[in-house]
Amino acid sequence: MMMDSKVMASQALRTNVLFLLIIFSYVLAVKATVSYDNKAILIDGKRRILISGSIHYPRSTPEMWPDLIQKAKDGGLDVIQTYVFWNGHEPSRGQYNFQGRYDLVGFIKQVQSAGLYVHLRIGPYVCAEWNLGGFPTWLKYIPGISFRTDNAPFKAEMQRFTMKIVNMMKAEKLFEPQGGPIILSQIENEYELVEYQIGRPGVDYTNWAAGMAVGLGTGVPWVMCKQADAPDPVINACNGFYCENFLPNKNYKPKMWTEVWTGWFSSFGDPVPYRPVEDLAYAVTRFIQNNGSFFNYYMYHGGTNFGRTSGGPFIATSYDYDAPIDEYGLPREPKFTHLRNLHRAIKLAEPALVSNNPIVASLGKNQEAHVFKSKSGVCAAFLSNYDPTYSVKVRFGNGQYDLPPWSVSILPDCRTESFNTAKVNINGLHLKMVASGGAFRWQSYTERIATANDKNAFTANGLKEQISVTWDTTDYLWYMTDVTIGANEGFLKTGNLPVLTVKSAGHALQVFVNGQSIGTAYGSNADPRLTFSSKVNLKAGINKIALLSAGVGLANIGLHFDQWNVGVLGPVTLGGLNTGTWDMSKWKWSYKKGLAGETLNLYSFQGSSSVKWAGGTSLTIKYPLTWYKTTFDAPGGIEPLALDMSSMGKGEIWINGQSIGRHFAASKASGSCGTCSYTGIFKEKKCLSGCGMPTQKWYHVPRSWLNPSGNLLVVFEEWGGDPRGISLVKRTK
Ligand SMILES: *[C@@H]1O[C@H](CO)[C@@H](O)[C@H](O)[C@H]1NC(C)=O
Repeated sequence: MMMDSKVMASQALRTNVLFLLIIFSYVLAVKATVSYDNKAILIDGKRRILISGSIHYPRSTPEMWPDLIQKAKDGGLDVIQTYVFWNGHEPSRGQYNFQGRYDLVGFIKQVQSAGLYVHLRIGPYVCAEWNLGGFPTWLKYIPGISFRTDNAPFKAEMQRFTMKIVNMMKAEKLFEPQGGPIILSQIENEYELVEYQIGRPGVDYTNWAAGMAVGLGTGVPWVMCKQADAPDPVINACNGFYCENFLPNKNYKPKMWTEVWTGWFSSFGDPVPYRPVEDLAYAVTRFIQNNGSFFNYYMYHGGTNFGRTSGGPFIATSYDYDAPIDEYGLPREPKFTHLRNLHRAIKLAEPALVSNNPIVASLGKNQEAHVFKSKSGVCAAFLSNYDPTYSVKVRFGNGQYDLPPWSVSILPDCRTESFNTAKVNINGLHLKMVASGGAFRWQSYTERIATANDKNAFTANGLKEQISVTWDTTDYLWYMTDVTIGANEGFLKTGNLPVLTVKSAGHALQVFVNGQSIGTAYGSNADPRLTFSSKVNLKAGINKIALLSAGVGLANIGLHFDQWNVGVLGPVTLGGLNTGTWDMSKWKWSYKKGLAGETLNLYSFQGSSSVKWAGGTSLTIKYPLTWYKTTFDAPGGIEPLALDMSSMGKGEIWINGQSIGRHFAASKASGSCGTCSYTGIFKEKKCLSGCGMPTQKWYHVPRSWLNPSGNLLVVFEEWGGDPRGISLVKRTK
């Protein structure tokens, strides 16, 4: 009997345990949710202060992802935010690419295995200083399409791609209620201004986009950033250098900041912007002390615009962004550690932050205390000094606190200062580029100047818009025409040469007359248009004019940015002739897209062996339209690598057949690079470096693209440079 009752008891216990397990897992299943209230995002029913950072998967390599994500975690992040890059995933309609740098699922799973959450910004318009804002170029040529408005063909394509991504995430169980890391999504991107400009169709489109997204049933909230009329239940979020005064559009939504700009992007021809960490920390802390509960650093790691992915025009290949993790994947100090310290202080204050709204008290003319107190007695205080000039001592509670100008102190227990935004005590390592390996042994191959008789060349009346011809499959389009000069032209005797003037919508141009380059011109990010004007030494009879127009990234922002023209749209004129000025714009022009070397795949192992290269004393240098190749062994060590391209002009670089991006050292940064104080309102052009220098000198060579030996390096040079000046460098202490 004793035995029996023991058995019975243990059976009953087992039944109970099973029952409890069922209840428990049921509760877990029910609690595995993401929701929100007026205070914060709730994960599994719990309000959270969430610290997020943008890392865009195609701007680094899959081999770099684990380390970048681990560093983000070490830096105190809870969430990784990324856009989804439509034109990378669907290069031609219906043909998808989710491999390599575009392995979106792999990237998200990597974040998950590090124990972090994901904010997935599907867009599919992403802006992002990315080619055409993320839209595939073929999308422009769908009949009747009009981007980002109440337009049926556009909405059909946007919905198709958004569903494709959402279904892919669902199939891989990546949304949080499925046990995955995705806690938030985003539809559209900074649409509010366009909506304001286009009116009713814009409002209809916003409502459609929100409804479409919510209807996909992801189980996690959707965000629209910079969208004051974001329809319920979509959350409107702020983007900017500061967002402390932002308010959500409904009092039952949390205050979110989807882009805390950690610096700014670089454009070829402009100086390199940076943002002092004191000001960045100040902005974030003011947001938190004013009820903010989610913020995302844009960028936390900026990375590289490999290939021809940069937006534009003229966005540089480096997308470093002055982010806390630099382009090469190394912590940028003191930014990285100072922000990590800030995150620790915020986390210490989290229990108080999520429990109540702050009580604000004045501590002086430009000073305030923001105090968060819960019923259970936890207390956190933020003491701020908004004065841009003076430091102050303030009294708070029983203590006295020193506040530097333009700073906030965090007291996670309302007593002890654990962090002040302007007190940066980090002996940051200053990383530099040091030479690695010997000189390259180059070989050269000269690109042919196109002619009207080339294969695939065609002739038409007048000047054609470049992208409508190339569909952006190449940066290059040749415009060719013949000029017949009569023997009686006066300039043939006087020597007073005629002037050729070419107006182009952008982005860069090189002009050839009778097989000789007579010059180059280029626009800028602020204005891509250019005018080339030069005397030309024409001869009696037929003269061959060939204009090589080059794109430097398609526009990614602005009203109807997708309709910005590229290429030589004219007028093209020849002045100083017997009959005055000839307008050549309506003449017959021949067109040839791309370079002969591109058709031959000269950047690949196979293609490069298909032509005869010159070397040694026959090496062509400082000559336009020249391809260069060399092979090299991977340097030892693990330090990130780059190519110093400062001896070159403009073109593109490939390693083992993969493009590391456009190089453009010829564009020297113009602007003023004075000293820069962290205090006072920050703007993108406030703090600049590198004036008078090439905007970008170093080009990241991912280690994972290299074999131990025999790596093929190919450079295409448009304008003329000296490849003997190219060197491999390591980023190190
Ligand atoms: C915090 O939110 C509450 C409720 O919306 C509001 O009354 C209060 O002014 C906010 N405080 C700050 C400092 O923004």
